[in-house]
Amino acid sequence: MKEKWWQKAVVYQVYPRSFQDSDSDGIGDLAGVLQRLPYIKKLGVDVIWLNPIYKSPDKDNGYDISNYRDIQPKFGNMQIFDKLLNEAHRLGLKIVMDLVVNHTSDQHKWFKESRKSTSNPYRDFYVWRDGHDGKAPNNWGSYFGGSTWKYDEATKQYYLHLFAEGQPDLNWENPEVREQVWELMRFWLDKGIDGFRMDVINFISKPEGLPDAPNPKNAEYADVEPMVADGAKVNDYLKEMNDRVLSKYDVMSVGEMPSSKPEDAVQYTGLNAGELNMVFQFDHVTLAFNDDPRLGKWNDKPVKLVALKEALSRWQQALDGKGWNSLYWNNHDRARAVSRFGNDSPQFRVKSAKMLATTLHMMQGTPYIYQGEELGMTNAHFTDLKQYQDIESLEAYHQIVDKEGLIGHDTMMRYLATESRDNARTPMQWDDSKNAGFTDGKPWLELNKNYREINAAKELRDKDSVFYFYKHLIDLRHNSDLIVYGNYIELDPEDDEIFAYKRQYEGKTLLVISNFTSKDVVREYVSGTDRKLVISNYDDDLGSKLRPYESKVYLY
Ligand code: GLC
Repeated sequence: MKEKWWQKAVVYQVYPRSFQDSDSDGIGDLAGVLQRLPYIKKLGVDVIWLNPIYKSPDKDNGYDISNYRDIQPKFGNMQIFDKLLNEAHRLGLKIVMDLVVNHTSDQHKWFKESRKSTSNPYRDFYVWRDGHDGKAPNNWGSYFGGSTWKYDEATKQYYLHLFAEGQPDLNWENPEVREQVWELMRFWLDKGIDGFRMDVINFISKPEGLPDAPNPKNAEYADVEPMVADGAKVNDYLKEMNDRVLSKYDVMSVGEMPSSKPEDAVQYTGLNAGELNMVFQFDHVTLAFNDDPRLGKWNDKPVKLVALKEALSRWQQALDGKGWNSLYWNNHDRARAVSRFGNDSPQFRVKSAKMLATTLHMMQGTPYIYQGEELGMTNAHFTDLKQYQDIESLEAYHQIVDKEGLIGHDTMMRYLATESRDNARTPMQWDDSKNAGFTDGKPWLELNKNYREINAAKELRDKDSVFYFYKHLIDLRHNSDLIVYGNYIELDPEDDEIFAYKRQYEGKTLLVISNFTSKDVVREYVSGTDRKLVISNYDDDLGSKLRPYESKVYLY
């Protein structure tokens, strides 16, 4: 197998809005990212993925783009972007941008034209349909509540929006749309960026005839995901994208792919497939523990370790030698890993954050670290609905509590505290000064109250911090083909306390053992003397006894 730079790389995700404010407006910006590059460099990562920084009305925090070739004024301008890109490259850091082309903003000039008349040249850039008996064209429910269809008075037709009303879906059937997408990708690649993270890219091919979705529970709107994920033409579109654009540059690509299965991913990322380099799979972060599918992800049941192991191991095994995995616990859409899968109490936060990091970073694939994860940042634990800003959380509250009355206020608040995307979006905790050094102004989203205990300045002073532990894991990967390329063998899948696996490569073996509980557990994994402890989150090694959240890695 020919080695690719992105197989050995570690990516750091920056959510610019919440990273560092430089002009006191309470919103993070590009000059702020520029100022913090040395911190990112110090962590030892290779690549930065920036969430959308394009011009946008911000209905969905930049995932509704009104101009793909311009910078959101709150974040800066093109001069500052160019400076950031140059400085990152000078430091040996690559920059990957978010590509959001399943939909645009309704303020994009294509959509403004499209909605004017049925004969407008841009009409067919979007998905327009007649209604049925005064109702929407089909029963699909939008991700942010309500129908996926919005009636437009001007032409008396409905347009499709899988997400918010302000995010109309592009019509990928139209070759002109695809041409335009290739063009805007080239615009950024020619500037010298190093790749793209592609937003819900497996949703771009909609089913022929746009039929109703199955709706066994007779909900007001049916779950749209099975209808639009991994559609019939998505592989053709991605091959075309690769052929026309990506293959001309030495860049990386990762597609966000809700509900894709490992078989799909082998197709998308297969070494000879000519599509993408890797996908963001969802199985391990959307484990369903709620019996009522109408509540979807809104549940606060603890994650069962066997299910988590099954999901991660299935992807490890299925893609080995056939495709390439991404490895992540966190991003801007997920609650904080240490709160969801570990233990964010003062007693166990540091230990469990390190344990989670080890468990993931010793797997095969390209690891992604989401800002603050390297500090063990926790969920926000908001108690008032007014503290939330996220459109998904607010719309879910509106739909589930106000409209359908499925659950009451208190239960929903508990769910939000566990699952809301805002848990990941609270500002970065740099130090213990006012607003954690994030801004001199009023932060756009409240800070997590624990920033005086958990912050970068403190961790940089402490050799035992989560930060330095991540740095160590990154160094290990950079210096080990076994960690990068080794195969993966899960041990004892039924064990609901310990996550253990082996990696093997060219006669060497790595053994990874993690205790996911807050108690001592005894397991006989360690044998022989021809072994070296590579990393551990405790100072000493008690052999078969694993202390709370203990995690260790041996090289044989
Ligand atoms: C992706 C993004 C999410 C956004 C959605 C619609 O899932 O990660 O933040 O809301 O797509 O663009």
